[in-house]
Amino acid sequence: MNIKKPVLCCTSITKFFSGVIALDKVNFNLFPGEIHGLLGENGAGKSTLIKCLTGVYLPDHGDIYYEGKRVVFAAPSEARNRGISTVYQEINLIQTLSVAENIFAGRQPLSKGRINWKKINERSRELLAMLDLDIDVTALLSEYSTAVQQMVAIARSLDISAKVLILDEPTSSLDEDEAHMLFNVIRKLRNEGMAIVFISHFLDQVLELCDTLTILRNGESVGEYRANEISKHELIIKMLGKKLAAFENRVAELNSSDESKKDVFYSVRSMSRRKSMKHFDLDLKKGEVLGLAGLLGSGRTEIARLLFGIDKPHSGNTVIKGVSGSVLSPKNAVRHSFGYCPEDRKLEGLIPCLTIRENIVLALQVKKGLLKYISLKKQRKIAEKFMQLVSIKAPSCEENVSRLSGGNQQKVIIARWLAANPEFLILDEPTRGIDVGAKFEIQKLILKFRDLGMSILFISSELDELVRCCDRVAVLRDRKKITEYTGRSLCSEKIMATIAHVTSEAEDGNLL
Ligand SMILES: Nc1ncnc2c1ncn2[C@@H]1O[C@H](COP(=O)(O)OP(=O)(O)OP(=O)(O)O)[C@@H](O)[C@H]1O
Ligand SMILES: [Mg+2]
Repeated sequence: MNIKKPVLCCTSITKFFSGVIALDKVNFNLFPGEIHGLLGENGAGKSTLIKCLTGVYLPDHGDIYYEGKRVVFAAPSEARNRGISTVYQEINLIQTLSVAENIFAGRQPLSKGRINWKKINERSRELLAMLDLDIDVTALLSEYSTAVQQMVAIARSLDISAKVLILDEPTSSLDEDEAHMLFNVIRKLRNEGMAIVFISHFLDQVLELCDTLTILRNGESVGEYRANEISKHELIIKMLGKKLAAFENRVAELNSSDESKKDVFYSVRSMSRRKSMKHFDLDLKKGEVLGLAGLLGSGRTEIARLLFGIDKPHSGNTVIKGVSGSVLSPKNAVRHSFGYCPEDRKLEGLIPCLTIRENIVLALQVKKGLLKYISLKKQRKIAEKFMQLVSIKAPSCEENVSRLSGGNQQKVIIARWLAANPEFLILDEPTRGIDVGAKFEIQKLILKFRDLGMSILFISSELDELVRCCDRVAVLRDRKKITEYTGRSLCSEKIMATIAHVTSEAEDGNLL
C-alpha cells in the first residue's frame, strides 16, 4: 500500500468537445517520487487529461486536487506558478529567437527594470548542462536540430522549482542515446522527489522508465498498473482492447518482396553537399522500399532533402526514369511525381485552419495543377478513403485538423502524400508519435503501395520497422553512407553494429 499522499490527483474528470466525449470519468493519482506513464492509442485522451490537469481546459465534471487541496486552475500559468511544469505535445518554441530567449521567453529576470541578459544566458547554460547539453545559448534556435530543440523545451520547463513535471511525448524526436540521456535526468528528478508524468508511444521506453502506468482507451481509464508487473503484450491488449486479434494478423501479413529484377527509377552518383552530406551513390528501384538507417544527424534527412531538390548538391549526377542530368527543385520534383512527407510535420506540413479533407487533397491538387479543380464530392471520397486507410479518428472529414489529437494530425499528412499517388515517395519518420495499432496500418500501406510499383524512401529510427518494411537498407554514419544491407543480410543487429561502428566496414558486406 502506498502510504504517501498523491501530489496531484483527479476524480471523475469528464470532458466534452462539441458534444463528443473525450474523457469519461477518469481518475488519476500521481505520487511524489514516481514516474507515471500515461498510455493509449492516438485520440485516447492523454493530452486532454494533461490539459485538464494543468488549466488549459476546464473539465466539464470532476475534481482536481493538488497537494491535498481541491483546485481549479483557470489558466496554465496558474498551474505553472504552483509548481506544475508541462512540456506539451505541440511545443511552442520560436525559431527566430535565441536558445536562451526561448528558455526565458515571457519571464525574463529584470535588474533595475532592464532585462538581465548575462543572467539569462548563464542560467540557460546551467539548465542545459543538467541535460548534458553544451551549446551556444546565444545562437538562434533554428540553427539546432529538432532533438536539441526538444531539450530546450524541457530545459524551459525545468527551470521552475517544480513539484510535478509533465512530458507529453518528449522523446519522439530524440534518438536512442538522447532519449537515455533524458531518462537519466528524469530519474534524477524522480529521486529528488519530483512527480513525473511521461507520455509516449514507445512502449519499451515506457516499460523501462516508468514505475506506474495508467492506460486510457476511448477516453476511459482502463486501469493503473505497476510497470514491473505488466508485459508489453498485456499492455498492447489493454490499450487496443478487442482489436488485438486483427492487429496480430496484420503483423503476420507484412513480408518482403523479390527486388532483384526491378527497374531503377532514380539513380544518384557521387552526390554531395558541403557540411551536409559526403559523396554517396544511391539507386531507387521501382516497387521497392529503400530504408535509411542511422542516428539523428547522420545525414538521413539531408539525403531526403537532396533527392527532392530542397537543398542543392555541390557535386553529383542524377538519372531519373532514364533521363540523365536533371537538376532538381521541389517544383521539378513534384512534376516528376515525387512526394515528400517531412520529419517535422507540424512545422512543414499541416495547415491548421483547414479541414481534414482540404489538408488531404492538397498535394493531389498541386500535382494536377491548381486550375483543375477536384469536385467537392470527389474530394470527400478521397479524404474518407484515406482517413479510413490510415485510421484517422475524427467525426468526419470536415473536422478542422487543429481539433485532432497529435497522432491523428500526423496521419493526415501521411494520407495527403499517399492520396497524391506519387511514383517516388519520401517518408521521413512517418510512424513517429503514432500508436502501435496505426503504426502497423502505415507499415502495411507502405508495402501495399510498393507492390503497386511505388518507389519509397523510408527513414526511421526504429530498426525493427526498417527491417520489416524495407527491401534494402542504407546505413549512414557521420553524414556518410557506410553500406547497404539487403536480403538475408538485412537484420537489425547488423544495422545496429554499423551505426555504432563496432564492425569493420569491410565485414559489413554489400559495400558500395
Ligand atoms: N480542441 C479540441 N477540439 C475538439 N476535439 C478535440 C480537441 N482536442 C482533442 N480533441 C479530441 O479529443 C480526443 C482525445 O484527444 P487527445 O489529444 O487527448 O488524444 P491523445 O491520447 O493525446 O492522442 P495522441 O497520441 O494522438 O496524441 C480526440 O478524439 C480528439 O480529436
Ligand atoms: Mg496527445
